[in-house]
Amino acid sequence: MTTHLLLGQTLSFTGDPFAEGWEAVTRHERRGAVLVEGGRIAVVGAAEDLRARHREAEVTDYGDALISAGFVDAHMHYPQTGIIASWGKRLIDWLNTYTFPEEMRLADPACAAEIAGRTLDLALAHGTTTVASFCTIHAHSADSLFEAAGARGMAVVAGRTCMDRDTAPEGLRDTAQAAYDESKALIARWHGTGRATYAITPRFSPTSTPEQLDALGALWAEHPDCLMQTHLSEQLDEIAWVRSLYPGARDYLDTYESHGLLGPRGLYGHAIYLEPREIDRLTEVGAAVVHCPTSNTFIGSGLFDIRLAGRMRVGLATDTGGGSSFSMLRTMAAAYEIGQLRGRPLHPAELMWLATEGSAAALHMAGEIGRLGAGAAADLVVLDLASTPAIAQRTDRAESVWDQLFPTIMMGDDRAVRDVWIAGRRHG
Ligand code: GUN
Ligand code: ZN
Repeated sequence: MTTHLLLGQTLSFTGDPFAEGWEAVTRHERRGAVLVEGGRIAVVGAAEDLRARHREAEVTDYGDALISAGFVDAHMHYPQTGIIASWGKRLIDWLNTYTFPEEMRLADPACAAEIAGRTLDLALAHGTTTVASFCTIHAHSADSLFEAAGARGMAVVAGRTCMDRDTAPEGLRDTAQAAYDESKALIARWHGTGRATYAITPRFSPTSTPEQLDALGALWAEHPDCLMQTHLSEQLDEIAWVRSLYPGARDYLDTYESHGLLGPRGLYGHAIYLEPREIDRLTEVGAAVVHCPTSNTFIGSGLFDIRLAGRMRVGLATDTGGGSSFSMLRTMAAAYEIGQLRGRPLHPAELMWLATEGSAAALHMAGEIGRLGAGAAADLVVLDLASTPAIAQRTDRAESVWDQLFPTIMMGDDRAVRDVWIAGRRHG
């Protein structure tokens, strides 16, 4: 197997910048190198040193470009790729008007396979090497994404979305038993197969009966190494709706907790309007919340409190197609803007960490993906930090790597993605 030596600027982290401060945990080499062997990162170091020690390696010199761990999108909906940027609705109307009709199209396995492949190609074009995706209620929609990810060598998280309540439309409803049986069969087929991880996926409390939440809670108890992904406290109307559907629940999180759906491997998307009890419980159990900033502004949801980072696991995600971009650069930009509105400007190091290690940690895959460090899978993105005239003129006089990188975070798109490597192979 070929040993590769990638030369460029390198950015890596030795810890959590929210817990320890970004200066303490950030490692940057202006003339750095990444040695890749057998699909994994063997060493990250100085170019001159690694070149001298590994003369056998095939060298790719990226010059002044930045080599980072590939981006990890911790919450998205591949079935919604075709309706991204649909105009004028807030969450519940947006679901009914655009999302559910589109998800029904995936009843056709050929349609599901096409959209799965298209979505992963778009993700890779934007430098995202792992996604955690919701599917539809059709079991084959999960097969399609796992197959498409396997064909591209990508680590992926996915689960068949479960909805059995009459709040979901005819044609997108299952039953508690079918959700349990089909999810169980998918776990047996996919969880741990190649680079696939299964996430048990109740869409959100309003579209499940308590019986379905119980059934999925029981399934998770039988397969505690699976992830569980859902939505939590995204819009105020939604929270009022949850209260009316679950009058006995202490709060939104309790609709999951009381059915066995709160645990360390739980991923709760959005989490904008958390009550103190919810924050305490999520923190105690070590669960993750996932910040979806372009979605939160696009659907008009609200402003996530990034101060939760450092206290609990926080991932970063596009939430396409509620989110308005496939790009984790654009997603970081939106997280920065929401931070500004909340009085907490995020440093570029914090943004990059959220988009890589932070999301990987939310998915319980820290050390495997999202890390530019020895032993991690060689899933990499190489960023051109002067990809457009507007960015290039701004970075001309940049002195620090942060001056050089921040304009790409704020203004960059897929044109900034010079290369992507998946498990030690150049994608392209
Ligand atoms: N809540 C329940 N389903 C969805 C979805 O598909 N997208 C978003 N943004 N929120 C949801
Ligand atoms: Zn979502």
